[in-house]
Amino acid sequence: MKKIILYSLLSLALFGLPFIAYTSEEYVGAAKCKVCHIKIFKSWSETKHATAFDVLRPGVQADVKKRAGLDPGKDYTNDSSCIQCHTTGNTTMFPGVQCEACHGPGKNYSNVAIMNKSKWNTDPEGQRKCAIAAGLIVHPEEKTCTACHNEKSPTYTPFDFKARYNQVKHPQQ
Ligand code: HEC
Ligand code: HEC
Ligand code: HEC
Ligand code: HEC
Repeated sequence: MKKIILYSLLSLALFGLPFIAYTSEEYVGAAKCKVCHIKIFKSWSETKHATAFDVLRPGVQADVKKRAGLDPGKDYTNDSSCIQCHTTGNTTMFPGVQCEACHGPGKNYSNVAIMNKSKWNTDPEGQRKCAIAAGLIVHPEEKTCTACHNEKSPTYTPFDFKARYNQVKHPQQ
């Protein structure tokens, strides 16, 4: 409990509203989703979201960093002002922009009782409702993206939600 309060205060202090509701303890990580969503996992692995943590390492994307007024030689992997947007759930345990950054923290919806193939086949609407009640986001809204794609990003470029949405949609599993 203490830990949860601490995390909440920390996230409140550092990031403001969008991050308050979740603590890193509610995230399970992409490896868990991979077990059942292997094709989507593979296509996601090839996106920049998957490797978004690596750009914080010294020497990586040096030109981009210079242009943004950052120090290309600096190691930013422990810098809390960077990891909030370059990890999932604000923890280096889950580096990069993983599934749950868009689909919601998975602790309560990623179990077989909810994400169950045969139940889903029999009653897709009912099962989807259960999953959503447990925190799943099926269609991410603009505010999910703009929690990171905003002017606080040192390399910010204007964010066209519709165009970008189509870039991150993955093929059927
Ligand atoms: C135990 C296997 C399993 C795990 C683990 C799992 N899923 Fe699923 N998921 C399913 C099944 C089965 C469906 C039903 C639809 C289908 O067959 O694709 C589904 C559906 C979904 C849907 C689509 C819902 C819809 O309306 O069509 C999303 C989004 C999703 N999962 C995301 C995730 C994410 C993110 C994780 C990890 C946090 C995850 N899943 C973990 C099996 C799983
Ligand atoms: C940058 C945001 C983002 C990330 C990261 C992401 N997704 Fe998605 N996902 C989407 C969007 C957008 C859609 C399309 C939703 C729609 O149909 O409107 C989607 C759709 C899905 C669906 C439904 C597919 C279908 O065709 O019905 C599943 C399942 C899914 N994602 C699982 C995952 C898993 C597993 C991961 C991690 C390996 C992941 N997603 C990572 C944004 C994301
Ligand atoms: C947790 C923070 C976070 C969230 C949430 C997020 N993104 Fe991103 N996104 C990033 C970062 C960081 C990068 C840059 C990664 C890099 O270039 O290494 C990025 C890059 C991208 C790119 C460029 C990928 C490429 O290959 O050039 C697109 C498109 C994108 N995001 C769309 C979206 C959309 C659409 C959503 C919401 C559905 C979303 N993002 C949610 C942090 C996030
Ligand atoms: C508010 C969220 C946010 C914060 C804070 C943030 N970033 Fe980013 N970062 C992004 C997003 C989103 C992108 C994708 C480009 C864009 O639209 O800004 C990105 C892109 C980048 C890129 C370019 C990657 C590429 O492939 O071109 C680098 C490098 C980077 N960030 C480094 C950092 C460093 C270092 C810090 C900390 C000093 C930081 N970022 C803080 C969200 C953020």
